[in-house]
Amino acid sequence: MIIETLSTFPAMYESVMGSSMMKRAQEKGILEFAAYDLRDWTHDRHRTTDDDPYGGGAGLVMKCEPIFEAYDAICGRGPSVSPTGSEQPLTGPRPRFCDAALPKTVFLTPCGRRFDDALATELSREGRLLFVCGHYEGIDQRAYRLADYEISLGDYVLTSGELASMVVIDAVVRKLDGVLGAENGAADESFVDGLLEPPQYTRPAVFRGEAVPEVLLSGNHALIDSWRREQSLIRTARLRPDLLDGADLSACEREFVER
Ligand code: ADE
Repeated sequence: MIIETLSTFPAMYESVMGSSMMKRAQEKGILEFAAYDLRDWTHDRHRTTDDDPYGGGAGLVMKCEPIFEAYDAICGRGPSVSPTGSEQPLTGPRPRFCDAALPKTVFLTPCGRRFDDALATELSREGRLLFVCGHYEGIDQRAYRLADYEISLGDYVLTSGELASMVVIDAVVRKLDGVLGAENGAADESFVDGLLEPPQYTRPAVFRGEAVPEVLLSGNHALIDSWRREQSLIRTARLRPDLLDGADLSACEREFVER
């Protein structure tokens, strides 16, 4: 899979994409990643990517011209016609994957569709994703013409679309075949079956007076599975009852969580 980002602070990706699983996915050739600097597609001395909002109001708005220019370059198109109508030669660097199939474009915005595990799975099936991220500010509405997905992490506002995109990228990449080793499989975790995952324990068997539930030491896998399922139900009913409506429960389980 190819993942690219377009933003004004590309250096923010270095630590997350250069460490741990994201690094391993690239080393294994499962992920190819590039972070582009939107300022490379500006034309003024100050490399301006934002401006005052029409109609007034606080803050700045990200301009659409550099976004369209960068998008054309990333898609290997050119010369491009700017939104103001003038034809301009392609400028800026030659993006790494500009000869690949066109990307699906993801805009990170608090006004988007709420991100969840199902959307992470959907995105993980795309061959190439381009994340467009604002920083401190909104994006000129006309740029959303390029959006295939408008995604929000939740009902709060971040200063950094880059940060939001890293959350989505991590959740998507860990679903790609071969990224998690067999020891870290994604099959038993939260949300896969619509419920929160059960509690987990490792050595020591007793810590500061608290013992690991005995069933987990029993070696009886049928019993362990049924304990885990029950714990998932209890935890979901307590912490995220909203998930129960959409979860696949037997009649007996439904009765259990409604008690
Ligand atoms: N950018 C700023 N806030 C955001 C949020 N809640 N989700 C996604 N992108 C954002």
